[in-house]
Amino acid sequence: MEASTFENPLRRGLRLERTPEPCTVVIFGSSGDLTKRKLIPALYNLALERLLPSGFSVIGFARTEMSHEAFRQKMREAVDTFSRTRPVQAAAWESFAQGLYYLPADFRAPESYSKLRDLLAALDRDRGACCNRVFYLAVPPSAYMEIIRRLGSAGLAQSGAHGWTRIIIEKPFGRDLETARELNREVSQVFREDQVYRIDHYVGKETVQNIFVFRFANGIFEPIWNRGYIDHVQITAAENLGVEGRGAYYEEAGVIRDMIQNHMLQLLCLVAMEAPSAFDADAVRDEKVKVLRTIRPIAPDDVDRYAVRGQYGKGWLAGEPALGYRLEKGVKPDSTTETYAVVKLLIDNWRWADVPFYLRSGKALPKRVTEIAIQFKPAPHRLFRQAASDPLEPNVLALRIQPDEGISLTFGTKLPSPILRIRPVNMDFRYWTSFGSEPPEAYERLLLDGLLGDSTLFARRDWVETAWALITPILEAWKRTSAPEFPNYEAGTWSPKQADEFIEKDGRRWRRL
Ligand code: BG6
Repeated sequence: MEASTFENPLRRGLRLERTPEPCTVVIFGSSGDLTKRKLIPALYNLALERLLPSGFSVIGFARTEMSHEAFRQKMREAVDTFSRTRPVQAAAWESFAQGLYYLPADFRAPESYSKLRDLLAALDRDRGACCNRVFYLAVPPSAYMEIIRRLGSAGLAQSGAHGWTRIIIEKPFGRDLETARELNREVSQVFREDQVYRIDHYVGKETVQNIFVFRFANGIFEPIWNRGYIDHVQITAAENLGVEGRGAYYEEAGVIRDMIQNHMLQLLCLVAMEAPSAFDADAVRDEKVKVLRTIRPIAPDDVDRYAVRGQYGKGWLAGEPALGYRLEKGVKPDSTTETYAVVKLLIDNWRWADVPFYLRSGKALPKRVTEIAIQFKPAPHRLFRQAASDPLEPNVLALRIQPDEGISLTFGTKLPSPILRIRPVNMDFRYWTSFGSEPPEAYERLLLDGLLGDSTLFARRDWVETAWALITPILEAWKRTSAPEFPNYEAGTWSPKQADEFIEKDGRRWRRL
């Protein structure tokens, strides 16, 4: 499918109607991976697209001693390595880099915040940042509360007559319902909810935002988007790497906290929500939280009927021998942390009654692929019983989030032959073929929205707490009961046999990806 008339207004050098107001972004944890892999490359690309305001500045805040110049140099290397557009354009970089500053400071020390206040004031004066600021928490979650409290006591948290203040908080937002509530309470002591932007990078992915457009800008899908036509939905986020040196973090997380409580529940909400009355932060987030609230709660004693867990053992990844999870650095040799999970959720409302949503995610699987597969019910009467490949393949609408971004519809078709025979074929939309480019990075869109003050794609307090309320019983039950014989799948294979049996019990099977 070609979009022959498509033209990206940004490529014509036009600015979007809305450009952020001059402001300064303070990145706490600027020596970490997120800053160099994602945040700075995303900001640079926004600058390249002329989407940043003049006088835009960044302050890197971290413990290491470094000059502004050394920070700029480090960030240049990061952009050279990780930017989606390369090689780096020298002139664009120079002008962007003039706005990069560095503050060597300890987030625990009160004096760090007076130094920060002074630097912010200097930038307001010298670069015209107009007292608008965004604090970005790219630090381990254990540091969140302290930074938030200290920003509050240093008087840096209020939006005032002179400018606005926002805070962007990375996941994980809490580690269960109780800790998420506590963190929300702390945040609300210092920031108003409309200043708080809880980021989930999945929602910033172009293909994920396209779910809104696909469903609500087209008239033909909504009439069949319900229990009358849909048999079930499979949402998969498969990763073909192990924990990649993040063993210590992952031990405390596991795939339920790392992927399912946040990214995958977000995807579910976008597929299952009702059409919002407007495309704005309140209306969209009201509908998303309504979906979560209608999901049938899982009782701790009933977890085995709704969830399965797995952990990878040694095997092969990308043609190389791979260690089992328990041998990864920072992992206990008898760890019971899950690196794979399936959760089946039922949404108790008129649209979705009896349509299971299967969420599955795992590390060390054969392929990196994220997709949402909507599987339709068979035709009510099997007219071509004899002609079909047996059994007739179901109609599936697959929203491919990554890689090979696109959408495909599988349907049965007649094989060209005098004999009537039916085979499945695909109708395919691919981003690359239609638009001639890769979609932009999720962080570009989300950072831009944060600067514009648009929180539509960010998680609201009630969403986060409702998501944890759903997921916490699974975590508690798994903590109490002993794990199945771990490891129970080999690195580089699709799933533990328990996961296959789990879906087969419902008379269904996993899609081959
Ligand atoms: C992060 C998780 O939130 O998402 C990682 O902490 C995971 O463990 C990553 O690998 C996946 O993101 P993406 O965009 O590569 O699919």
